[in-house]
This record gives sequence, structure tokens and C-alpha cells, in this order.
Amino acid sequence: MELCALNGFFSPAQRQRFLLAVPRRRSVRQYRGAPDAGQIGALHYAAVRSALPGVRIVIGETPADQLYRKLPFVGAIQGTSRYAAVIADENVPHAAIHAGISGEALILEAVAMGLGTCWVAAFKRSGADIPLQPGEKIKAVIALGVPNEQGGPRKRKKLSEICGTDPAGWPLWAYNAAECVRCAPSAVNLQPWRLSYAWHALVLSTARAGADLDMGIAMLHMLLGAGDEPFIMCWEEGKEIASLVAEDGI
Ligand SMILES: Cc1cc2nc3c(=O)[nH]c(=O)nc-3n(C[C@H](O)[C@H](O)[C@H](O)COP(=O)(O)O)c2cc1C
Repeated sequence: MELCALNGFFSPAQRQRFLLAVPRRRSVRQYRGAPDAGQIGALHYAAVRSALPGVRIVIGETPADQLYRKLPFVGAIQGTSRYAAVIADENVPHAAIHAGISGEALILEAVAMGLGTCWVAAFKRSGADIPLQPGEKIKAVIALGVPNEQGGPRKRKKLSEICGTDPAGWPLWAYNAAECVRCAPSAVNLQPWRLSYAWHALVLSTARAGADLDMGIAMLHMLLGAGDEPFIMCWEEGKEIASLVAEDGI
């Protein structure tokens, strides 16, 4: 079983800050302006601090109309020129999933600062003018700014729809971890996660190919929701499926 780089990567204080930000986070598409200079400085630090192996996060600046594609059903992103480019080096194992973890960590740091954010996969590559190394790819960008909207109600599947067995019978840490995954953002709000619990291990997988970012985002939420329970996070043999193994009864 291969250990995941997420183990011990974020400090207890960071995990606590992220957990408090989870219920406050919504995708924000209307902004009153860009973050101020102090917030940009803090975001630069958070971008470096959050980057797991194979990930680089760059804070950039481009007018919104040159960066974001217009999507049906959701409003255009307007009112801020600041964004973070989430870059993965595809030569590094798990880098695409790490990009989801690191990008979501940056988002939760930004929310803790009072900023609005939105993951954006539908961006114009010409607008994100960032030099890349061989093997690197911009997986998504994240809009960053002063929110000008509250964000709508959270539309989510029921817990029973994403859990293999009735989570009411799981230990509290596993139930809380699953509930925290349920709050996570996902592309087109597909929520492609599956969770199952057996023998002290909560196993997270996705039902959709190519959902690397969604998987990474959910892994961070799973870790945050598990709270102070001593646990390790590992990859299943030969597959990109994450297990969070609590050490309570082992
Ligand atoms: C990987 C990823 C890509 C996304 N791409 C876009 C996008 O291109 N445009 C957009 O408006 N929202 C995008 N979103 C935001 C989702 O639509 C949003 O997270 C989802 O509807 C749930 O809503 P919430 O974030 O307010 O909880 C993306 C989210 C994720 C995780």
C-alpha cells in the first residue's frame, strides 16, 4: 500500500482553518474587484505552501473576459482579473489528483481571508499566459476576488447516494468525513464520488474517468472531515483510489 503525500502535509492549524471555511465556500462568479495587495501577498505564500509533489500554483492577472469561457446555465465570471493557475506535471505520480488537493487548499485559504473563489475548467488557454515546463499542463484556473454575491443554496446528492452502505452505521469520524466530501465542489456539480467503509478504512473512489481534480478535492475534504482521529491516507494497490485508514481500533 502506497502512502499518500497528503499525510502530515497540512498543519493542524491549517486543517482547522480549512474546516471552518468549508461551509462558507460557494462558487462565486460575480466580484466587486480583485484581492488587495496584502491578500495577493498571502495568496502567493498559500500557493507555494499548498503545492504537493508535481503541482505548481501561479497567481496571475488577466481581464475576466479574456480568461473565462461563457457556459450555459451558469453566469459568466466577472469583476476580477486575479486568478490562480493550477498546474500539474504529468511525469510525477498522482500529480493530477494532487492538483485537486492543492487547488482546493488554496481556495479554502482564500475563503478564510474573506475572498470569493471559483474553480474554472472552461478557461481560454491564451488568457492564462504562463510559461510551462515540459510535461506541465494547466488543469484549471481559480477565480479570486472580493465577492459581489452570496452564492446560491448548496445543491448536493443525499449522503446515501454517494455511500456504499448506510453511513448512519459508520464511526462518527467516517460519517463526518463523508459529509465533508458531500460539501465539496465538483465540475458541473456531478459529485462523482463513491465512499465505502469497512475494517477501520474509509475508501473514496470516483465513478467517472478523468475526474482527477474532483478526486483530489474530495480527498482533502475527506481528510478535513475526519478531524482529529489518528489516521493515514494511502493509495490502493495500482489504482488511484484513496483509503483513509483510522488507527483507532487497529
Ligand atoms: C474541477 C472543477 C471545474 C469547474 N469548472 C467550472 C467552470 O468552468 N465554470 C464555472 O462557472 N464553474 C465551474 N466549476 C464550479 C462548479 O460548477 C461548482 O463547484 C458546482 O456547481 C458546485 O457548486 P458550489 O461550488 O457553489 O458548491 C468547476 C468546479 C470544479 C471542481
